[in-house]
Formats: sequence, C-alpha cells, structure tokens
Amino acid sequence: MRTQVGIVGAGPAGLTLAQLLRAEGVESVVLEARSRDYVEHRIRAGVLEQGTVDTLVGAGAGERLRREGIVHHGIGLQFGGERHRVPLSQLTGGAAIVIYGQTEIVKDLIAIRLDAGDPLHFEVEDVAVHDVESDRPRITYVHEGRPQELECDLVAGCDGFHGVCREAIPAAVLTEFWREYPYGWLGVLAHAAPAHGEVVYCNTERGFALLSLRSPEVSRLYLQCRPDEDVGEWPDERIWEELEARVAVPGYTLNRGPIAEKGVTGMRSYVAEPMRHGRLFLAGDAAHIVPPTGAKGLNLAISDVTLLAEAIADWHRGGKAALLDAYSDACLRRVWRAEHFSWWMTSMLHRPPDADPFDLQLQQSQLRYVVQSEAQARSLAENYVGVAGAAALTAPGARTPA
Ligand code: FAD
Ligand code: DHB
Repeated sequence: MRTQVGIVGAGPAGLTLAQLLRAEGVESVVLEARSRDYVEHRIRAGVLEQGTVDTLVGAGAGERLRREGIVHHGIGLQFGGERHRVPLSQLTGGAAIVIYGQTEIVKDLIAIRLDAGDPLHFEVEDVAVHDVESDRPRITYVHEGRPQELECDLVAGCDGFHGVCREAIPAAVLTEFWREYPYGWLGVLAHAAPAHGEVVYCNTERGFALLSLRSPEVSRLYLQCRPDEDVGEWPDERIWEELEARVAVPGYTLNRGPIAEKGVTGMRSYVAEPMRHGRLFLAGDAAHIVPPTGAKGLNLAISDVTLLAEAIADWHRGGKAALLDAYSDACLRRVWRAEHFSWWMTSMLHRPPDADPFDLQLQQSQLRYVVQSEAQARSLAENYVGVAGAAALTAPGARTPA
C-alpha cells in the first residue's frame, strides 16, 4: 500500500492534520491503536484559543463548534478567599477563548473523515516506523490480524506522549527536556449546571481547584491531588465537599449533580528537539507535554499541524522544502512560550506538598501582582488566549523560511 502522508495517531493532532491535508489535495492514511469508541470518549481539554478555532473552522470541522462552543472573554483567579477577574478580551484587543470539549472535536473530525470514505483504521497493533532517513519511509502494523506495510512520502508522528514515532529518532540526534511536578489533577465531569460564568483557577490552602464547564448543564471540575492518587479514595460525596471547601467565596454556591466521569492525571513538562528527523515529523503531545494549568496542550497540537499541513502542501505543490525545513524551529518557538507559561501558572497556583512558608508568600505576592498590575494581567491574558504564542512564531530571531 502507498500513500502520500502516513499519520500515526487519531487524536486531535492526527485527525486535524488529515483534514487539513485533504483540503490541500494531499492523501493520507490515519492509523490509531485504540477503538473509535475509546478515542471519542477520552475526556480531556476544553479551552480553545481563537487560532485553534480558526484552524478547525478552516478545515471544515467548525459547524458544531460554532453552534455549541461557548465564547468566554475572561477568566477568574481566586486566592486569599477572594475571586478576581482577568478580562482577557479587554487586555488583548478583543481576543477570546472558546469552551468546547476535545472529545467533541475528535467526534466531529472522525465523522467527517469516515463520511468522506478516507482511510482511518482503528485498533491497529504493532505499529513501527522504518527508513525515515530515506526517500521511502514505511509504516508496518497489524490490522484485523493481518500484517500490513504502508509506503509513504512522509510520516507524521501524532501518536501522543506514549507513542512509538519519537523512538524512530536516534538518541544521538534527540535532546529531551523534562520537569516532573509533585501534583496530580482529579478531573470530574458532572451533570450539574455551572454556577460560575467563566473558568476559575483557585489557589487555596487545601490545594488548587479549577472550575470549568462544557455546556449550560455540564460542569468540568478539577482538584489538586497526588500524582499517584487512587481515584477510589474519592467517592462523590468527598469530591463535592472538597470542592466546596476550596472554591467557596461569599455569594457563590457550587451546584451538585451526578458525576459521570472521574480520573487522575499526573503532570509533567517535556520537550523533544528537533521535531523532525529525515521524513518523520512529530506533532502535538508526541513532541511536547505541558502541565494542564495553562490549557495549552491541545492548542499546541493544533498549531503544530497547521504549520505542518502548510509545509507539506507547499512541498507537494512545487517540491519546495523550505517550510518543511523550518517546521521544527517554528513550532519550538511557540512550544517554549507555552512551556514557560504552563510552568508559571502551575507554580503560582498549586500547593507544594511540603510547602515552604517563603515559597507560599512568593505565590501570594505574585497573584496579587497579577490582579493589581495591568501589565502583569496583560501578560497572563496574552499567553492564555494564545497571542503571545503566535507572536513567538515571528519574533526577532525566529527562523522563518527563506
Ligand atoms: P493524543 O490526544 O494523545 O492523541 C494521540 C493518539 O495516538 C491517541 O489516540 C493514541 O491512542 C494514539 N496512539 C498512541 N500510540 C499509538 C501507536 N503506537 N499507534 C497508533 N496510534 C497510537 N490541552 C488544552 O489545550 N487545553 C486544555 O484545557 C487541556 N486540558 C487537559 C486536561 C487533562 C485532564 C489532560 C489529560 C490534558 C489536557 N490538555 C489540555 C492536553 C490535551 O488533551 C493534549 O495536549 C492533546 O490531547 C494532544 O493531542 P495529540 O493528538 O497530540 O495527542
Ligand atoms: C480545562 C482544562 C484545563 O487544563 C484548563 O486549564 C482549563 C479548563 C477544561 O477541561 O475545561
């Protein structure tokens, strides 16, 4: 079998890339290790930057997103028992964020691809990438019990942090940067009307909490916990009590309702450089991870594949490799901006397990400064809505294609 672009992974990065390439007349085959049902119900991100929305709409995957996505112009920042508002749009010349679940994006993209009859194979096994340094890279895998081989012009490794594509880059070529955090998030999806109009990040003596939402009827809530916390220690009643203890401010009552899903996620920062080796291009979580506090992971994945699709289309049209050659450096500029922002938000908002009183004073001082100083608030807002990331792409010193 042959295709132009072999895409490993049907998460947001792989599915969006396939859709963007299709619009440019470039063929691809998408290979996914899990079942359709599994990937459509993996509950994760929910905050989309405007640039992410623009890419999805431009790719023809914006119909439901435009109808059901909820536009927010600010976020809450709560500390010392008081809630403050960071007016994102006012501070960034009108930029906003859109609340729309990652699961919904994935469902929309899968439906579009399957309706078009384009190849997307679920439950493939033993995926391996070969000969990426040659002109004829190959992907081997097993599908429905039969071994398969896919010859490609290029391979896109969109297979997430635990995928196999990154391993195809020789250790001597790859530089990896790490940071582990002593925090986890217990994430909860509840059929309860959100009483908070906007996403609220809370720094409290009992640990971090986050109020988010998915719709006027569904709340998405997070509690700081240990990275190895057993979710079995958290019956629904304990979750509600702990949330109330952390998020209560005068005049605010949390609405309770049936909990549909709960799970614990650990936190790390990770970057692999370069994001390209020969004819293999990494995108999204396969190349970088951020702790979720800045809501950047999904947005970075979509930003990577937006650049990659343009570069591949340019190469296919005229054989020009300049954009492909610039791909890794261009992505990494934005990735490092998001790494810094996510690390900063994480450090400012979580309660370290053995909190040093000096560190706690620094946190409170930083939080007060953010809500008192317009320059500080603007910096947070620019990063949160993604304009700082977009600017990093064209900043002085950023390598742009000739
Ligand atoms: P993934 O979504 O990990 O997709 C990779 C795909 O590859 C998967 O379907 C996987 O099954 C498949 N795969 C793996 N190995 C193989 C293989 N060997 N062969 C074939 N397929 C394979 N980001 C935000 O921007 N905003 C947020 O608000 C936000 N909140 C988050 C909250 C939580 C609790 C978590 C866990 C993450 C959050 N993120 C957020 C991060 C975001 O979910 C990820 O960055 C995003 O999923 C990355 O997309 P991806 O396509 O690169 O990788
Ligand atoms: C959500 C997730 C995040 O990581 C975040 O920073 C804000 C909101 C969410 O799932 O809604």
